Amino acid sequence: MTRSNVAELLNSTNFSQEVSLKGWVRTFRANRFIALNDGSTINTIQCIVDFENTDERILKRITTGAAVSIKGILAESLGKGQNVEIQISEIEILGDSNPEEYPIQPKKHSFEFLRENAHLRIRTNTFSAVMRVRSALSFAVHKYFIKNGFYNFHAPIITGSDAEGAGEMFNITTLDANNPPRDEAGKIDYSKDFFGKLTNLTVSGQLEAETYAMALGKVYTFGPTFRAENSNTTRHLAEFWMIEPEVAFNNLDDNMDLAEDFIKSVISYVLKNCKDDLAFLNDRLAEEDKSKPASDRNEMSLIEKLKFIVENNFIRVSYTEAIDILKNSTPNKKKKFQYLIEEWGTDLQSEHERFLVEKHFKCPVILYDYPAKIKAFYMRLNNDGKTVRAMDVLFPGIGEIVGGSQREERLEVLQQKMKDLGVDEKELWWYLDTRKFGTAVHSGFGLGFERLVQFTTGMGNIRDVIPYPRTPQNAEF
Ligand code: 4AD
Ligand code: MG
Repeated sequence: MTRSNVAELLNSTNFSQEVSLKGWVRTFRANRFIALNDGSTINTIQCIVDFENTDERILKRITTGAAVSIKGILAESLGKGQNVEIQISEIEILGDSNPEEYPIQPKKHSFEFLRENAHLRIRTNTFSAVMRVRSALSFAVHKYFIKNGFYNFHAPIITGSDAEGAGEMFNITTLDANNPPRDEAGKIDYSKDFFGKLTNLTVSGQLEAETYAMALGKVYTFGPTFRAENSNTTRHLAEFWMIEPEVAFNNLDDNMDLAEDFIKSVISYVLKNCKDDLAFLNDRLAEEDKSKPASDRNEMSLIEKLKFIVENNFIRVSYTEAIDILKNSTPNKKKKFQYLIEEWGTDLQSEHERFLVEKHFKCPVILYDYPAKIKAFYMRLNNDGKTVRAMDVLFPGIGEIVGGSQREERLEVLQQKMKDLGVDEKELWWYLDTRKFGTAVHSGFGLGFERLVQFTTGMGNIRDVIPYPRTPQNAEF
């Protein structure tokens, strides 16, 4: 007999057939009713033990968390809230789970407690729903790009460059930290290191992706990226996954169109293919909202919010217009912002981004044409000489979800900008080659995958949408 899974049995009407399945006990009631889950769906299937003919020693071992193998008959269920059940003819305990010691009991656990038990939290409804949605989103990302003629590009994880120029890198070295080789000036001599120079974990695959876009036309990366920024927020990780498309001949408008279409497409995929998990997460968020003050509650339910994103156009606003709006906003005038907006040129903080999205426009916003001074060296300088063709997509509850730009394709302008921002030309000789040989307008962006998962699942903390979060002072598991 082939083994079935819970998802297919719950949808089956093939009653009286004999079935076999394996899974974990979620609850066991009245020495009779097992709620069994095997990960194939958020739902459990009710399995009924023939307790008169089952050894008492076996009954004792049917505990929350135990792994079991079951054979039985699929039957129509008369119970409320379920259509099918399994009348067990044979049960085998595959792996016991001592109820005195098992941390995941069938009750509400705090997210803090579950983070400390990240290896077991996946056994709860919330985390299994989040991680199934995460997996579906990942598939939808690849599907979108491949369907639209992109090639998947695997960017190197170890690099010698700092794409964002922010200096937030994790160094990689095999030198003995206690006794490193030193040069004549007494500095650590990285020419003796594994790669013959100092290297780091990548902060972005963009620069390498650009070189591939200049031959393959349309490429995208989807891989881990690393940032040693000491930000203990609900939206920052030290290790996160980024999706970075890069397209030859696209200008900034094309880039914005791509970002919007892409995000809508992957969210639609989840709305269509993760109905049970989304329904659960929707109710979870509604329940969580009840314990918040009225002013902090979500105006829309999770599913309404996702549909809203798919059905409405993102609003496109220049940085200069945004600064005007923010300068004249009530929280700025009443000094409610922690960082007051006084003049053109200041960087926007997440409080400003969220004001624009959540209070002013009440819609996803794409901000573009930022001051050159606050953005990376590779962005294309506008004719005004002071702004660059940058774009950030801002989302409700999240703030920045995408950062991208049209790239500076003119060699001399790029070299001048590198000089101004202190980026070493010698390190990036290969990058500059793309501007020497067949240079062309091109654009791309990076989307933080965990921020997308956070938005799609309605989870408040980014640490709860990646299996094993890496944050300052925390790399357990
Ligand atoms: O805006 P960022 O820094 O852009 C880049 O890295 C460009 N090279 C992308 C490109 O044009 N190809 O990062 C892109 C996105 C952000 O919008 C955010 O969603 C996410 O990556 N991100 C983080 N997510 C989680 N934790 C962090 N520490 C993040 N830093 C950035
Ligand atoms: Mg950014």
